[in-house]
Amino acid sequence: MVNQTIAPTPEKIMQTGTGFWASKILLTAVNAELFTLLSEQVSLSGKAIKATLKFNCTDRHLFDFLDALTSLGFLHRTGLLEHAEYSNSLDTDTFLDKKKPSYIGGMLEMMNNRLYGFWGNLDEALRTGEAQNEVKEGGKPVFEMLYSNPLLLKEFVNAMTSIQIGNFMAIAQQFDFTKYNTFLDAGGSAGMLSIMVAKHNLHMTCSTLDLPPVEPIANEAIQKFELTDRVQAISGDFFAGALPKADVVAMGNVLHDWNEENKIKLIQKAYDALPDGGAFIAIEAVIDNDRRQNAFGMMMSLNMLIETADGFDYTFDDFNRWTKQIGFKSATLMPLTGPASAAIAYK
Ligand SMILES: C[S@@+](CC[C@H](N)C(=O)[O-])C[C@H]1O[C@@H](n2cnc3c(N)ncnc32)[C@H](O)[C@@H]1O
Repeated sequence: MVNQTIAPTPEKIMQTGTGFWASKILLTAVNAELFTLLSEQVSLSGKAIKATLKFNCTDRHLFDFLDALTSLGFLHRTGLLEHAEYSNSLDTDTFLDKKKPSYIGGMLEMMNNRLYGFWGNLDEALRTGEAQNEVKEGGKPVFEMLYSNPLLLKEFVNAMTSIQIGNFMAIAQQFDFTKYNTFLDAGGSAGMLSIMVAKHNLHMTCSTLDLPPVEPIANEAIQKFELTDRVQAISGDFFAGALPKADVVAMGNVLHDWNEENKIKLIQKAYDALPDGGAFIAIEAVIDNDRRQNAFGMMMSLNMLIETADGFDYTFDDFNRWTKQIGFKSATLMPLTGPASAAIAYK
């Protein structure tokens, strides 16, 4: 029954339906390094921006692009059109200036260069159940395909760090590591979770395990943070053989890459690597049990359809069921940043 007291409005429908316009405007600005350019200046005119970015559109369309970014809240502007001066908003200056360590544009760069196009085939993905990324052409498994191209490897690793760094900083400070000494991050990419755990917990020794092409990138990050004495990068395949023993085993955005059978295999490997009382931590956009709130988690799950075909994001109830079935004694959920949480199971 339609509620007669609430008038229908097309606003939300049109806002979401045209959402890709706003998305592509932001992604294009990130890709063109507009926010990095503006962070170097007090402000710039449209003419100066157009010349530096080598845009060849009409001045009117250049102003449409910059003023759309302004009305979306990503730029500040004084004056109008030819007399306008543009500068970064506080958010874009902090998070989208490539020269700052707080830059989180890695995920947005990958969204622009890979996912934006692949998501154009969401309908095909839903109809066929097939992945819609480079796997479609190459036929290789997704990580093999991504890591065979150094540019894609770097872009993917940077994207992973940028989407998770806030969560890694949060878990490193919120989780009680005092009763533990060793930490393993399985599928740890650039090693940033291990680095954050070691940085905030001086008694912890950490290992970050990933496929061989990732190891040099992790080693570079560990050296940059001067943590070579307590953080080690290990190359390995987490499906082959046992995981190295540790008091705490983490997997960030790893379980969601795989189907249920493989998820359970990986949780079992974490269980086997832990001592009694040890903790397994999954850091993901864990979906609320009623599947009504965490839209990002459900969209991330569809992103797994696009990227992996059978991977999916899950609820805490799912996590609880899988971990109990394997033998973990209890599980809790710790909210981290935005839509992400840590699902934690204790052996
Ligand atoms: C979605 S990324 C997540 C990276 C990171 N944990 C995070 O939270 O951002 C999944 C990671 O699992 C790694 N991975 C995939 N298959 C693997 C395997 N068989 N053995 C070890 N690592 C693997 C990938 O290389 C990638 O770094």
